[in-house]
Amino acid sequence: MSGRALRSSRGANGARILGVGAFRPARVVGNDEVAAGIDSSDEWIRRRSGIATRRFADAGDTVVSMGAAAALKALAQSGVDPARVGVVLLASMSHLEQAPPAAPRVAQLIGAHGAAAMDVGAACAGFCHALALADSLVRSGAADHVVVLGTERMSDIVDPHDRGTAFLFGDGAGAVVVGPAEEPGIGPVVWGSDGARHALIAHSRSWLHTRESPDPWPTLRMAGPEVFRWARETVPLIGRQALSAAGVGVDDLSAFIPHQANLRIVEAAAKALDLPPHVAVARDIVEAGNTSAASIPLAMDALLTRGDAPSGGLALLAGFGAGVVHAAQVVALP
Ligand code: UT7
Repeated sequence: MSGRALRSSRGANGARILGVGAFRPARVVGNDEVAAGIDSSDEWIRRRSGIATRRFADAGDTVVSMGAAAALKALAQSGVDPARVGVVLLASMSHLEQAPPAAPRVAQLIGAHGAAAMDVGAACAGFCHALALADSLVRSGAADHVVVLGTERMSDIVDPHDRGTAFLFGDGAGAVVVGPAEEPGIGPVVWGSDGARHALIAHSRSWLHTRESPDPWPTLRMAGPEVFRWARETVPLIGRQALSAAGVGVDDLSAFIPHQANLRIVEAAAKALDLPPHVAVARDIVEAGNTSAASIPLAMDALLTRGDAPSGGLALLAGFGAGVVHAAQVVALP
């Protein structure tokens, strides 16, 4: 090292979520429509996943446009001028262009001109990963305000004839604005990965295979029961660790907002965590299906819009998905 020490940036004492916004595509798709392609039924889908409906994007609803719509709502709720957004972090597993990333276009559309903008690839756990990064960016001084979004067009990467996934996934986008705060409003993240289990949720083919022969279109495949067991064990574990890292207990929570993968996973985790009755449990999956990286901000928006959880109340978030990867943290609701 040379004799001259580098300066480093200094940020706020804490960071918190200042606003949340959601975009739900107009087209509501019932179980009967998806069941037709997979020899299934409304009864089976409700019983095994809890899902009653999901939304599918129209041709004009892209990963970029849906993400921008959600982010604009989050900005409006936060009262933050888009010009003060220093970073846009976009979590998605269904943006089908290798380049460019989707985030710069979202930054442009929301008026965050010139902001640093990047995509975060952590599948269904992408939102919690990006939120942890946003917290660090604001506290380090690398950014004043950060827009974090999860945006998915899962209908593009799901095979309507695959019995293990066709009924599960839906489309949509959710976003939050993170900014400086006197007190921490985003607790320490508990995160990690297990690449040995990478094949549990994976595309059926890669771009390289597609170059050799364009058919069939690469779609998502999932070892459902194995993923189910892993998620049922992991969510309570990382939930307890995130509570402990934040120095709070289940009695301090107003809401539990896990990734909406399957209602049975949500219920099992709520039970294992021994949540008291006053804690609102997010069950957005019933109406939205599994929207991957978008599911947690969509569910957060729904809880707050319905008045099921108070602004300022503490919520435990827990994401998990392909990789396999996980991330959880406690946040103060906007
Ligand atoms: O978001 C990323 C992380 N993803 C998740 O966390 C998803 C985790 N996994 C799941 O949510 C569940 O595994 C599913 C909802 C995907 C599937 O539910 P399951 O209870 O695990 O079903 P299964 O695959 O164990 O199948 C149970 C039975 C089988 O019949 P038998 O062998 O018991 O006679 C399947 O053949 O249900 C049958 N089955 C179906 N029946 C009607 C499997 N898929 C279907 C279907 N419709 N779509």
